Amino acid sequence: MDYFEKTKENKPETVRHMFDQVAPKYDCFNRILSLGLDKLWRKRAIRNLKTNLAQEGFILDMGCGSGDLAIDISHHDTVIGMDFCRGMLKEAALKNKSLPLCQGDATQLPFANNVLRGVISAFVIRNVGSLANCCHEVYRCLQPGAKVVILEFALPQNPIFRIGFLTYLKIMFPIACSLFKGDTEAYEYLRKSIQSFGENINVVEHLENAGFNHVKATPLLLGGVNMYEGIK
Ligand SMILES: C[S@@+](CC[C@H](N)C(=O)[O-])C[C@H]1O[C@@H](n2cnc3c(N)ncnc32)[C@H](O)[C@@H]1O
Repeated sequence: MDYFEKTKENKPETVRHMFDQVAPKYDCFNRILSLGLDKLWRKRAIRNLKTNLAQEGFILDMGCGSGDLAIDISHHDTVIGMDFCRGMLKEAALKNKSLPLCQGDATQLPFANNVLRGVISAFVIRNVGSLANCCHEVYRCLQPGAKVVILEFALPQNPIFRIGFLTYLKIMFPIACSLFKGDTEAYEYLRKSIQSFGENINVVEHLENAGFNHVKATPLLLGGVNMYEGIK
């Protein structure tokens, strides 16, 4: 049974184990797969979040992984990086020793109500066990008027771009897998999870159901990535 099949039985444990396995090579894989565009997307998400930051408190980078987003924010704001995978947190700590980090689950945030001045998250939500719980938790912890900004892979609406995007994933993944020998199963999960999430999950609806206002999705990369936002 491959990782993607295993997530149908126990998603959190399978996902945590998988990210632990790929943690030391994650950044490199990411850069290759996104052709370096992931850096630009993160910067755009940060700019978006900054348009609506509450005055007090700290920003949460939910599912911070190896910490790129949180490290960028830490240059000008108070941020905490949270992830449920120890291996990823270790990579983040290696990059920046002074970055505040904590271990926690996006479906059960370890924060009190109404404390966060903003939440940002990149390429995490397709991996969480329950997106509904995750959106409710983000809503609960944000201060009234504060914003959530989420990046996640999507499937382009335009059928030609969609075919192009899926073909790209099919071609790029084996190339990346051949560079990172031994983790083929984990990278195959990443590819399958992108497709399945794009086909089945409506993030805007989840955010609205959790109570967010002014929810919108902005397509990036011709719709291969969406930037979602909502205000509490
Ligand atoms: C694809 S990586 C993205 C990491 C980082 N945000 C970035 O942009 O590079 C997904 C991250 O989400 C974390 N993650 C997945 N499900 C999670 C959950 N339920 N709670 C906390 N972190 C989670 C994984 O451990 C992994 O570090």
